[in-house]
Amino acid sequence: MKRILLVGLGRFGANHLRVLKELSVPLGLVDVDAAALEKAGKVVPGAALAKDVRDLLPDALAASVVVPAHLHRPVATVCLEAGVHVFCEKPLAPTLEDARALAELADAKGCVLQTGFIFRHHPATIALRGLISRGTIGRPIALQAKFTGFKRPRTDGGCATNDAIHFVDLATAIFGKPPLSALAVTRDFLATGNEDVAFLTFDHGPELVHLEAGYHTPERARRVLVIGDAGSIAVDYDSKEPVLLFRQSHRKKDGQWVADEVAPEKPPVEPGEPLRRELEDFLANVREKRRPAADGWAGAQATAAIETALRSAREGRSLPVPRVGPTHVGLSEARPSSEAEGLARPRGESVRGAARSQLSVRAQGAERPSEETRSVQQGASEASDRSVDATRNTDGGRVSPPSGADAARNPSGAA
Ligand SMILES: NC(=O)c1ccc[n+]([C@@H]2O[C@H](COP(=O)([O-])OP(=O)(O)OC[C@H]3O[C@@H](n4cnc5c(N)ncnc54)[C@H](O)[C@@H]3O)[C@@H](O)[C@H]2O)c1
Repeated sequence: MKRILLVGLGRFGANHLRVLKELSVPLGLVDVDAAALEKAGKVVPGAALAKDVRDLLPDALAASVVVPAHLHRPVATVCLEAGVHVFCEKPLAPTLEDARALAELADAKGCVLQTGFIFRHHPATIALRGLISRGTIGRPIALQAKFTGFKRPRTDGGCATNDAIHFVDLATAIFGKPPLSALAVTRDFLATGNEDVAFLTFDHGPELVHLEAGYHTPERARRVLVIGDAGSIAVDYDSKEPVLLFRQSHRKKDGQWVADEVAPEKPPVEPGEPLRRELEDFLANVREKRRPAADGWAGAQATAAIETALRSAREGRSLPVPRVGPTHVGLSEARPSSEAEGLARPRGESVRGAARSQLSVRAQGAERPSEETRSVQQGASEASDRSVDATRNTDGGRVSPPSGADAARNPSGAA
């Protein structure tokens, strides 16, 4: 069987390595850093090793790209050019031009291109979206989110491009439409050339989104609040009980608005490690020739929103967010991972041929998935996830703040 490549064996690559090893797929490991390569090679003794991804492409089915963001386009491009399916960490690229080029190339090659929006795969998000779709909070009207913590600044982009982008994508998925406009304030207090504080507002028309990201607050926060006209859902991704449901709404009494407080409910959340679910989903998408919910166009749309927000901060005014892609993006429901089957299941046709037929659905301008796609998606959403671990968070680490040995698995500095 052809190999799954892991390109980039740094902080977050270590989490991909652990999960891919757990999934027992044949691996090829790539890093320009010989020491990182040697270390990873000891973790998976049977893996093929290379300093240049091109050396392993002939024997590769798919690649997980976990290199710094400004290198996503060149690395993903050589993979896609070779017909190798790509999972690319977020941001798909720091600029819309690069992100769009990757989405277009994947479609032209009939390859799966999945953007690493890991929060879509978090069990708390699955619970959140389930509650929303069942009408529990009425019509969602606003989303507030915080992605903050005291951490080193990355060198491949600021806190909006790297962190807030997660919740830009989540808001787009929840509201079923990308933002119409952006109004932002950012600061580069550390003078790195990238923003280290960002307050971002997006207008989805009429839904509103406010996001905060930054590297200065002592408190680590990975929190989302979705407000509906009949209640609210608060998600704290670092909490053991991450979802709180407030069934409360304003009501009129004797001609006056009244706001009654209610005690929150704690809806159940299925266990599951987000990164494992995400990579299982990618491998299933490759195997089943499915277009990912967070495909290249979803990645490009999120980059477009962030790029516009950063320009808004520079120009001090609200700006329209371009709508990207051949069709409306962000409408697909996040699907739970299919069961861990690996990739060894027999296939009736070549992945590339079939991928081209199914993946072309959106490129041709169809807004709705084909019957075939729908049945595959339904099957996937009915599948239970047996291979779960309730205790890991979206940084690939455990839900509770990392300490001791867990810190190695939770590079919170990387996200
Ligand atoms: N989804 C998340 O929650 C999450 C969390 C952290 C990081 N990330 C993303 O993962 C990516 C990597 O982040 P990181 O913190 O691991 O970075 P890092 O700097 O720790 O590691 C990057 C690795 O890529 C290697 N590399 C650089 N150029 C290469 C090339 N051309 N070919 C092969 N290897 C190459 C480097 O030697 C290094 O080992 C970034 O895009 C980041 O945004 C995502």
